[in-house]
Amino acid sequence: MLFTLPYPLLTIFLLLFIGGCQPEPYSQGEVLYKYHCENCHMEDGSGLGKLIPHLDSSRLTLSDPAKLVCLIHNGLPVNKLTGQKMPANLKLNEVEMTNLVNFLGSKYAANPQTVIVTDIKKMLAGCQTD
Ligand code: HEC
Repeated sequence: MLFTLPYPLLTIFLLLFIGGCQPEPYSQGEVLYKYHCENCHMEDGSGLGKLIPHLDSSRLTLSDPAKLVCLIHNGLPVNKLTGQKMPANLKLNEVEMTNLVNFLGSKYAANPQTVIVTDIKKMLAGCQTD
């Protein structure tokens, strides 16, 4: 008796529950973007006029992830025209860098190529540090 009425409700809860269990493949990358990039490049990657570039597939050099990895790792020196610089990010570990790059690929690349931790290790080892 008790359960006759709320069946439709139960079904909705069940569906929500099942939906909630679907793995969100790039969720850590998204969190890392929010934490490490969003305060400059904005939530949607639109940047800030001439001061901070908007992000797109070519700026992110998604066809050559090693460039992106080194850009994030080393940052960029002060731009003389804008006075802005992108700070080096030495806080991201290899797993986090992997998840961030895969998230950026899923968001901005038409045909994202997925990287794995061993790729990222090699890429980081190949970055020139100055
Ligand atoms: C403190 C602000 C700041 C943060 C945080 C930041 N950036 Fe940047 N980023 C900049 C600025 C400023 C530039 C442009 C520098 C210039 O004009 O030379 C830039 C440039 C870029 C570019 C374009 C490079 C190019 O050569 O066109 C990309 C891609 C980029 N950032 C990605 C990221 C990602 C990914 C993160 C997070 C890991 C991040 N940035 C974090 C400020 C920031």
